[in-house]
Amino acid sequence: MKAINPTSTHAWKSLTDLSEEFNTIQIKNLFADSDRFQKYSIQFEDVLVDYSKNRVSDDVKQQLLNLASECGLQEAIEAMFTGQTINGTEGRAVLHTALRNRSNTPVFVDGEDVMPAINGVLAQMKSFADQIQQGEWLGYTGKPIKHLVNIGIGGSDLGPVMVTEALKPYQHADLSIYFVSNVDGTHIAETLKQVDPETTLFFIASKTFTTQETMTNAHSARRWFLAHAQDEAAVAKHFVALSTNAQAVAAFGIDTANMFAFWDWVGGRYSLWSAIGLPIACAIGFDNFEALLAGAHSMDQHFRTAEFEENIPVILALVGLWNTNFLGATSEAILPYDQYLHRFAAYFQQGNMESNGKYVARDGGKVNYATGPIIWGEPGTNGQHAFYQLIHQGTHLIPCDFIAPAISHNPVGDHHPKLLSNFFAQTEALMNGKSLEEVKSEMEKAGKSAEAIEKIAPHRVFEGNRPTNSILVKKITPYTLGQLIAMYEHKIFVQGVIWNIYSFDQWGVELGKVLANAILPELESEEAVTSHDASTNGLINAYKSFRKE
Ligand code: F6P
Repeated sequence: MKAINPTSTHAWKSLTDLSEEFNTIQIKNLFADSDRFQKYSIQFEDVLVDYSKNRVSDDVKQQLLNLASECGLQEAIEAMFTGQTINGTEGRAVLHTALRNRSNTPVFVDGEDVMPAINGVLAQMKSFADQIQQGEWLGYTGKPIKHLVNIGIGGSDLGPVMVTEALKPYQHADLSIYFVSNVDGTHIAETLKQVDPETTLFFIASKTFTTQETMTNAHSARRWFLAHAQDEAAVAKHFVALSTNAQAVAAFGIDTANMFAFWDWVGGRYSLWSAIGLPIACAIGFDNFEALLAGAHSMDQHFRTAEFEENIPVILALVGLWNTNFLGATSEAILPYDQYLHRFAAYFQQGNMESNGKYVARDGGKVNYATGPIIWGEPGTNGQHAFYQLIHQGTHLIPCDFIAPAISHNPVGDHHPKLLSNFFAQTEALMNGKSLEEVKSEMEKAGKSAEAIEKIAPHRVFEGNRPTNSILVKKITPYTLGQLIAMYEHKIFVQGVIWNIYSFDQWGVELGKVLANAILPELESEEAVTSHDASTNGLINAYKSFRKE
């Protein structure tokens, strides 16, 4: 991939000039153009993305599109889809798109078509998931599996958690699913209290099969299981591995016949489409898992072929970049108006922040512009009663993505219209705000005294002009969820290309791991620790003395 500093492009300079005007321009005034909604929204199948409530004009959009071309976006997209080594610091291709390539056209890595291997693992996953769903996979006492426990962390946890929660209406009624990620013993202990060893299946999910948290939890689960089963041979019926590391899987004691493989060109945070998705397939059935893949594939096709100005991931990326680099936003909120999507923001917190939280450019220098924003969010309407105050009246500019389905899986009474009325109202309020005149006149009508109006009115003013995207989906199904996930994945990719960073490595998580490994033996020794800075020494020694008391 090219290494172009985006600030050196013509478009960046034009955008800098435009930003002076757009820092103060009122979004609501841009709606003088009666076609604005049509012009600034894109529908792809059952997903409608409205980005009209942003400080964006035709000029801004054009310069953002120019920026994308000057930074070589089209070539970068082709490089990703065709298996080139775009993960430059790890020397790997990036091919989560091949995992869901339902067209089955060949995709080559180092001259070899990866599709046969992908299809082979998918067939293995189907056969296994069918047996679980049909109650045919039996535990060591001959009972069908009822409890699925995924042990993994980061990309080997967050995707399956988010998707199984999002698609709970599709889950088999006889199965329950649990996720253990934290090395805090509480996580595994509390989970094991809820399951029965005779009917529990553990998925040990780890790309490397060396991650401390996962291996520690996996060994504890195995000990717990053997304490009940008293038979090593029973492990094969209750433990499967999802990994790229066959040697480590065998060393752990899982038969490699019970291993579901994937490859180094699948990034952890992009791995739910691979064998890491096995718990999803077991919980919701393989047909539904395939529909998830098909939805993602449809978004891949849209991303690869649609003109950039009508291309949802490209437009979302460019608008996000505009807000970050030119209007001063430092975070973005993802706000799903769907309870089933309650882990969606957490999922893309890793997706986004592990991918684009980088200050080193592709040429090894330090960037001189902002890269990935802080991603956060909670489902509406809970967020409204917690942190929306700051989004409406705080001092930070926080662009928000509002996501909602038109059709609920639980059409209870008037809950859904109420939920959606909030979804629509919030973006309207964030844009329009409420002026001092409006507040005063409202208070006058309510019979408030002049003194009360003088004192309170300023606090009830909303400046408005807060940018939002609205993403309205017909219904959250496996297919549309696949589309939404792929949409955000590609948004992240586009931004990484333009920011001139490597989005598919994660060196930033290494240092803490290494230091923790050095500290672990120090916690066991009797001696006072002196090898660190005074704060770290003091904390470690205090920990040790607390434990003696
Ligand atoms: O946190 C770093 C990381 O490497 C993530 O990128 C990854 O998703 C997670 O750890 C888990 O890694 P593994 O699947 O190898 O256990």
